[in-house]
Amino acid sequence: MRDQAEALRLKMLRAQGGLARSIAVVSGKGGVGKSNFSTNFAYALQNCGKKVIIVDMDIGMGNIHILLGASPAYSLKDYVSGQKTLQEVITMDTEGLAFISGGSGLDSVLDWSEEMFNRLLEAFGQLQQEYDFILFDMGAGATQSSIDLIIAVDEVIVISTTEPTSITDAYSMMKFIYLKDPEKRFHLVSNRVAKQEEGLEAARRLQFAMTKFLNKETTILGFLPEDPAVHTSVVAQKPFLLYYPDAPVSRKMKTIATAFAGITRELETSREQSFLGRLKSLFSRGRG
Ligand SMILES: Nc1ncnc2c1ncn2[C@@H]1O[C@H](COP(=O)(O)OP(=O)(O)OP(=O)(O)O)[C@@H](O)[C@H]1O
Ligand SMILES: [Mg+2]
Repeated sequence: MRDQAEALRLKMLRAQGGLARSIAVVSGKGGVGKSNFSTNFAYALQNCGKKVIIVDMDIGMGNIHILLGASPAYSLKDYVSGQKTLQEVITMDTEGLAFISGGSGLDSVLDWSEEMFNRLLEAFGQLQQEYDFILFDMGAGATQSSIDLIIAVDEVIVISTTEPTSITDAYSMMKFIYLKDPEKRFHLVSNRVAKQEEGLEAARRLQFAMTKFLNKETTILGFLPEDPAVHTSVVAQKPFLLYYPDAPVSRKMKTIATAFAGITRELETSREQSFLGRLKSLFSRGRG
């Protein structure tokens, strides 16, 4: 009965075109720029008139709030553990960007129980109605809960640098996700690029490997240059897009976001294919 009501509700929302695009920002190797990408990409999407929320999935080691210069009182953990409501853990930074902090200080990495996942599920249901984009900034490496989430989202943005180690790790990560969900949409971004040709070459190599070995298409969103504005902005705890709007990295980010916002998501045909539907089937499958 509950399922039927849910199905109907989702159907209505989809008919109105009302559900958010859910996107996980991932990498193979850590430290390649996911969190900086997520925060600035979110601003750039917001500048395109979109309503965006970032969820920091780097539980216990989150740094989105640091990059935004905010001190949230609560984190995602307080919500999933049932201590706070969803509204209480959503923070607005000074520029009006909504985010949910992952919490910091290594306050115990979550051991997700079924109840926690159910709360997470509930939260995403609500967020999907309120926002155009839900961006999940993933931590480095793959934990079971992060993999579950990555599998549930509609789209994945894969960040890599131009170093061969970063490229091969990015490929391994994509292959892993692809084998669990062949329908996933992959978007590639090369970061810290010294020369334009190098950035394109790195993304093309990844794209080529995906086509050749997995017969899977991916889109190249573009590349972001190595730019000292990133470091200065991190130190100032301000997104580079706002702090240095005309820096090369900011200009490129705007181009990437504009292109991304323009991609229309094909409406999926069944609720099983929806983000919530997929989350549900994941969690009902042998959890607890
Ligand atoms: N385009 C760039 N130009 C210069 N420096 C950059 C660029 N992108 C990222 N960096 C630097 O790389 C470092 C790591 O960035 P970030 O924290 O965003 O990576 P991450 O992938 O989120 O790391 P983790 O895997 O630990 O979560 C930061 O110190 C940042 O200043
Ligand atoms: Mg990070």
